[in-house]
Parts: sequence; C-alpha cells; structure tokens
Amino acid sequence: MSKKAKESKKNKPSNSSKSVKASRTSPAPDLSWFLNDRLGLFIHWGIYALPARHEWVRNRERITIEDYQKYFDHFDPDLYNPREWARAAKNAGMKYFVITTKHHDGFCLWDTKLTDYKATNTPWGKDLIRPMVEAFREEGLRVGLYHSIIDWHHPENRVDRIHPQANDPEYRKANQKRDQKKYIKYLHGQVKELLTDYGQIDYLFFDFSYPGEDGKGHEDWGSKDLIKMVRELQPKIIVNDRLDLMDKPGGWDIKTPEQFLVREPVTYNGKKVPWETCQTFSGSWGYHRDEQTWKSVKQLLTMLIDTVSKDGNLLLNVGPTARGNFDLRATERLAGMGEWMKVNARAIYGCGQAPEGFTQPEGCKLTYNASTNRMYVHIMNWGFKHLHLDGFGGKVEYAQFLHDGSEVNWTKQAGAWMSHQSGEETLTLNIPVQKPPVEIPVIELLMNR
Ligand code: GLC
Repeated sequence: MSKKAKESKKNKPSNSSKSVKASRTSPAPDLSWFLNDRLGLFIHWGIYALPARHEWVRNRERITIEDYQKYFDHFDPDLYNPREWARAAKNAGMKYFVITTKHHDGFCLWDTKLTDYKATNTPWGKDLIRPMVEAFREEGLRVGLYHSIIDWHHPENRVDRIHPQANDPEYRKANQKRDQKKYIKYLHGQVKELLTDYGQIDYLFFDFSYPGEDGKGHEDWGSKDLIKMVRELQPKIIVNDRLDLMDKPGGWDIKTPEQFLVREPVTYNGKKVPWETCQTFSGSWGYHRDEQTWKSVKQLLTMLIDTVSKDGNLLLNVGPTARGNFDLRATERLAGMGEWMKVNARAIYGCGQAPEGFTQPEGCKLTYNASTNRMYVHIMNWGFKHLHLDGFGGKVEYAQFLHDGSEVNWTKQAGAWMSHQSGEETLTLNIPVQKPPVEIPVIELLMNR
C-alpha cells in the first residue's frame, strides 16, 4: 500500500456496521443486506382486524374461543391486493417486509396442513401468504415472517399468565390434560411448513418468550431444536431474539427493542450488536379503528433518523383492515415518508452512527456512510443562518443539500463580527434563513479522504 493510501485509510472514520459484526456473540448469517437496508414494513393482519380493537383484543376483553369465532366466520377481505401493499412499502423506501403468519390468537394466514384454524376455511377461502410473498418479492423487497410462538387457540398449549382465560379456573383445570409436547410438535411443524413452502425467507421474527412464574421459557417452545431446524432449513435467515436463547450461540442474530427509542447503540454483554426497533403508526399493531395517537410524518422520520444514527433498523407497522386495504391514515404516512426518502434515502441506506470525534450539532442528528465517506446532517429543528459543526473543521471537502444538490458554503475566516466561527475545530455552515420545503432538510458532507 502506498504511503498516501495508508494515510487516507488512517484518516477515514471506522466503518460502524463492520464493528457491529465483529462483536457478535454467536455465529451469524450474513447480515450485510439487513444492516444496509435500515427500513422495513411490519404487517399485523388477522381476524382481529374485524373487532378493530387491537390484536390483543381476546386477552384484553377476556374473549373465549367460542365468542371469537364470529370474526373467523366473517373474515372476507375482498379488497386484498398485496401488489398495492408492496408498492406502498416500496414507495415509502422500505426494503423488506415482515408479515404475521400467525399471531397470539392462533389464526393462520397460510394453508397449513396442521390446523383447520386458517384463512382457507374462512369465507375468503384462500392462502394469504403466498400472493403476498410473491408480490413483495416482485417489487424487490426481502421477505420476513413473523410467527407467534404464543398460541391461545391450540388445545395443548398450557394456559399461563397471559392467556385470555388465565383467570378462569375451568380453563386452568384443563391444563392437567394439556400436553405441551404436542404443542411443541405443532409449532415446529408449522415453522417447517413456512420455511419449506415459500422459497427463501430472509428474516424470521418469533414472538415471544416470557419465562418465570406461570410463564413460558425456551423449554416450553423447544426453542433449541426449533432454532436448529430453522438454521438447517434456511441457512441465510436472520432470526430475532425472542426464543429465550440469549446465551446460546446462534440462538439469535439481532435484538428487537419494541415501541421505544434507544438512547445508545444497542449492546449485549457490553458489546454492540445488530438491532432493529419495531414501532407502530398509532398505539396498536393490529388495525384499530378508534385509536387516535397517530404519529405525524415528521415524528416517523425522526424515529427513522434517530434509529439509523445509532446503528439500528426501523420496522414500521401497518395493520390492514378487515377489507384487506391499508387505512387512509397509514397510506398518507407511507406516502409522506416516501416523499422524504425519494430525495434523502442516501442519508439512510448503508448509513450508521457517526464516527467518534464528530459531535452532533444542536438540533441535528448525524448519520454516516462509511463506504462513501459521506456524513449527513439531519436538521431536525431549523436554526438561523449558521450551523456550527464542532469537530468538523478542516475535514470537509464539499457540502450540499440532499433534496436539491445545492451547495452549502461556509465561512473560512474565523473571528469576523458577522459570523460566529469558533476556532479551527469548528466548521460553520451558512444556511438559508428560510427552511427549504422538505420535512427534515439534510446536508450531505463529502469528507476529506
Ligand atoms: C408484542 C406483542 C404483539 C406484537 C409484537 C410486535 O410482542 O405481543 O402484539 O405483535 O409485540 O413486536
């Protein structure tokens, strides 16, 4: 290597996603697509879309299997058009999707051979998963499956503290006759179907273990055999962390903090690990007609930028309706995100945390792409005329807005009474007084090699 090349290598900030890989605690599949793509669509869909009161409605309202049956009997999503869903996700800048094959209520969206409690036996009468997987693949998105290991419908799965009938002594009595091993066989059999019949599955999201008193831990799911089978059937698959196998090598690949934003890049046993946060548009995963806490496009973009600035992925959820379409509120948000992503995606894909030494400027968040050596300043709160970048002095070759490629210049001389440059360490950008017409403006800094 020439002296010049060595020098430029030395000056180049380290690749944050590589350091994540190196610090894994277990053998891992290739995570590069996942770490690059950063944004995915979660879909929670099932017969709980009919009551439209949260996917945990059976638990929250203590509904019995018998009383829940009416939703099965009326499930007929006549507007279901997975191609439309896939396009909406793609236009929002999403690169992968994750669909609930079965949620805690036990209803299966595919044509499983192991139960009659499935979409093909509802008035709809058809497998929902195959056309969805095909449509998303055709639009270029990777395929992820969510599978609930919890099952409130299966007659052999032990009733425990989160079961809808947990407080019903009659149900509890039935536990004496329940054989958890039979449920394990069913669970593994279904996962086998899903990983055999639908081609390459890129990501598997199991949900979820809750060990401890009256709960369920890895033994109740046969997690060790389950993960072994998963790895054999789909060696490239990425698996989340909810099987209660945290300390087993190969027991998980990514951590999945849910419904909150982390303050620092996620670690496990003191080491940085790959992670993805899943979040809802409103407070529910399943379609919830009356839920009013919808986040604005700006809030959603803030979540995305914040997540990427800490080396994470964002999996944003839509709960399709009982007719099989996306609620207008979801459609609008996806479109709003897409508008931003169309011009700013460069600040998201392939990006991660800024290298050490670069301080996040006031009102801004930083993301950084190690392969292109470009830094992105996301201006969350528009300031006034000057943007002071501490730690950037002498390190930037060129600066431009991402939405229109217009140059952003800076004042070279320190100390002039009209500017506020404060020393050589700081680069002060001159920004327009008016915020450009983009939800969160981004300045792209081409860093010196
Ligand atoms: C929780 C909930 C569930 C939702 C999931 C998404 O585990 O039980 O309803 O599917 O989070 O991560």
